[in-house]
Amino acid sequence: MNKYPIAKPYITKGEKQAVLDVLNSGNLSLGPLHKEFERKFAEKIGTRYACSVSSGTAGLHLAMIAAGIQSGDEVITSPFSFIASANCILYVGAKPVFVDIDPITYNMDPGKIEQAINKKTKAILVVHIFGQSADMSPIKKIAKKYNLKIIEDVCESICAKYRGKTVGTFGESAVFAFYPNKQMTTAEGGMLVTDKKSIYKVVNSLRNQGRSDNMQWLDHQRLGYNYRMNEVSAALGLAQLSKLDYMIAERKKIALLYNKYLEEYDSLVQVPQIHELNDHTWFVYVAKIKNIKSESQRNKIILAMEKKNIATKPYLPAIHLFSFYKNKFGYKTGDFPITEEISRSSIALPFYVGLKEKDIKYIVEKLVNTIKSYV
Ligand SMILES: Cc1ncc(COP(=O)(O)O)c(C=O)c1O
Repeated sequence: MNKYPIAKPYITKGEKQAVLDVLNSGNLSLGPLHKEFERKFAEKIGTRYACSVSSGTAGLHLAMIAAGIQSGDEVITSPFSFIASANCILYVGAKPVFVDIDPITYNMDPGKIEQAINKKTKAILVVHIFGQSADMSPIKKIAKKYNLKIIEDVCESICAKYRGKTVGTFGESAVFAFYPNKQMTTAEGGMLVTDKKSIYKVVNSLRNQGRSDNMQWLDHQRLGYNYRMNEVSAALGLAQLSKLDYMIAERKKIALLYNKYLEEYDSLVQVPQIHELNDHTWFVYVAKIKNIKSESQRNKIILAMEKKNIATKPYLPAIHLFSFYKNKFGYKTGDFPITEEISRSSIALPFYVGLKEKDIKYIVEKLVNTIKSYV
């Protein structure tokens, strides 16, 4: 067991009581709580509709179907993301077309999108990575010019803002995830939000085995899935949502403390950068180790930190270099150089509500010593 895990959910009495109450009610699925969670979540993000699902991945899959993406289509997205944001494009038989990222925010570089567009391009799947928005103004302009849909992957960036506007309100739909390492959790779970009634209706049906719009018993109108959120998760989600602002504020404080202790070692480590248009909500704290020559050099640092009881992780491996992407699409090293450079030199540090200043000081001290002996 690591003394300092990479992530940890912030669970208190409220969540425990809420989960017990559901168990005592006997109403474990398709009860009232997922509906209440959806209503409150939509209100929080500022969309007309929210549809709870069993995971962020499930939500992304349904967003693709609802957008009408199908075999033969192409969708532009980021290679610097968790694999699910590209896989959901494959689920519907379409091709993920990657564009390289901006070296400040690690989000898709809008200046590289137009050259990736062709007649098959149907949508841009914008991933807001690590808690920070992508540069939405130019992305929206390009989408409008070429008549492309925007779908947002907000799985890592709940409540982040771009020019004061909440992410998840820019596209025709947006998807959130609640795995336990996220800013808020439902154990497993996700949420799709949209302002479009037509999208809501189809997603609401698809997640529940394709049932008819009025949800008549065993009347299945389309090929659907079991992507429902259960009531235990919804109860957890409601309890977590009520303290989301607090948890995000705590994450911001912890990130600032890491910055404070790391900044004096700026010849060794680059702290995360925030674009001036963005309000960052901190999914992870990812530093970039300077002068890293290879991925294996960075991985040695991760192993050495593990021996010191501090979990750190490579964040993130480049999607285009996973073997099945290489084999299927012919991607190779060198295709997206900025993604690859960040990917081989970045390191996520322990990051969760409850980390104290003394812990952060200790982790930074160990990290700096370790880097000094390997770089
Ligand atoms: C960017 C991104 N997209 C999609 C997902 C998938 O979410 P889930 O794990 O809930 O399926 C995640 C979760 O880690 C993510 O970080």
